[in-house]
Amino acid sequence: MKRTVSFILTLMVLLAMIPTVGLASEAGEELTYTKPYLLTLNPSNEMNVVWISKESGEGFVEFGLTEDLGTTVAATQYEIEGLRTSITPEGYDPDPAKNPELNVFQQIATLQNLKPNTIYYYQATTKVGDKIEKSKVYNFKTAPVNGEDFTFALLSDLQLKAESPATVKQIGQHKPDFIIYGGDLQNTPWKAGEWFFVEDCYIAPAEIGKTWFEIMQQEEDGAELLQYTPIFITPGNHEVDDQRIMSDKEMATNNPDDWSLSIYMQMFRPLYPEQEYYPNGKHWYSVDYGDMHISSISAFRWHPWSGFEAPGWIMFDDISEGSPQVRWLKNDLKTTDAKYKWVNMHWHMLNRGNDGWYPYSEPLVEKDGTVKYPHGDYAWNVLRPLFEKYDVNGVNFGHSHVYERYLINDVNYIEAASIGNNYRVADDPYHPSGYKPVIEENSIRSFMIITKDENGLTAQGFAASGPNQGQVFDSFIIAE
Ligand SMILES: [Fe+2]
Ligand SMILES: [Fe+2]
Repeated sequence: MKRTVSFILTLMVLLAMIPTVGLASEAGEELTYTKPYLLTLNPSNEMNVVWISKESGEGFVEFGLTEDLGTTVAATQYEIEGLRTSITPEGYDPDPAKNPELNVFQQIATLQNLKPNTIYYYQATTKVGDKIEKSKVYNFKTAPVNGEDFTFALLSDLQLKAESPATVKQIGQHKPDFIIYGGDLQNTPWKAGEWFFVEDCYIAPAEIGKTWFEIMQQEEDGAELLQYTPIFITPGNHEVDDQRIMSDKEMATNNPDDWSLSIYMQMFRPLYPEQEYYPNGKHWYSVDYGDMHISSISAFRWHPWSGFEAPGWIMFDDISEGSPQVRWLKNDLKTTDAKYKWVNMHWHMLNRGNDGWYPYSEPLVEKDGTVKYPHGDYAWNVLRPLFEKYDVNGVNFGHSHVYERYLINDVNYIEAASIGNNYRVADDPYHPSGYKPVIEENSIRSFMIITKDENGLTAQGFAASGPNQGQVFDSFIIAE
């Protein structure tokens, strides 16, 4: 009898050691589309652990100061609406409505009352019926509240580009404390298979393994990305749900309901609690990380059909003087007492290129079909004076997929987005203001790491390709 009890006990111990479904498995977990990712508006004392599951169920996060964890928080589940798989494994129908809707659920566990500048370990668990899937045990560090050091990375515009995984892995190997991402995540937000791997969903052969979450959650070779570090993100033109409004005149002019950032805003819900999807909704936020204040605004536009001039560039969110976003930004920059100020926006208000010659404001189409911009350039005439007046140290862009920076009246304007490809053409004109970049380097892929220490904010541009891969090719002081 004693031996039987002993055998049963041994069996129970052995059974307990068998991994539950998908435990710590690699990509393609049974219950989840993504690993956990971290979002917060209060990085010194609160963290949202977020992940995407395939079925409705329950989620919870266990966390603590050691890998033994100890405290459990239940996740709130949201259904993410608007994502679709492809109508056949060979491709999507261009009309989103003709592709099957995909069930996608988001789990958000909010870890509160955390200590600043402290490492926390956590593990996310998904439960659907009797199936349980646990993530690995990851960790993150809360932000300091005073002048202590931190490091962050700048990137944007991954867009399923061929070299994005290799570049982003190098960023992850620097183990930044947080990431600032300047917009353009993939190409078409309603296509679920551009966010993460979806079984039987079309993906172009060249884009396999290059979905946004797969790139941003790499953990091979010591990379620490979204599972370990919060991301502060801003929308670009590729975050509009239905990209046909950029090429279809009828849609762009007649269907305001199609002008929506809904999928992007659902994915990053804790940064946008109001979930206002339509133009001039609340697409901005700000956050204090240590002694740096980060303001994220929505500034992007596109030329929808027949090139630049018919009927002209279209803006999504207004950045004119007195617009809700500009009123907010002015107050936000005016009221912060942070030592350093940073602005994250997608539109590259200073890069070389033809598009810089078309002022960022509402187009006016003349009877003869020509287009004028009587209001001038709002980025240059409205935003730039605010940045200067309120001593903004750095403004980062995306959109041009270049490495380029300018210094104007003590404000650094930076695009460090040659992550996966590059759009620079040799004879691109300089900005009409006459300002030229301090540096442009587009012969290699690259990224930027910025360190705040006792010397101030120091930035380094790293080569991500070429003979000097891994080396710093551009080093400069942003603020002392
Ligand atoms: Fe882009
Ligand atoms: Fe863009």
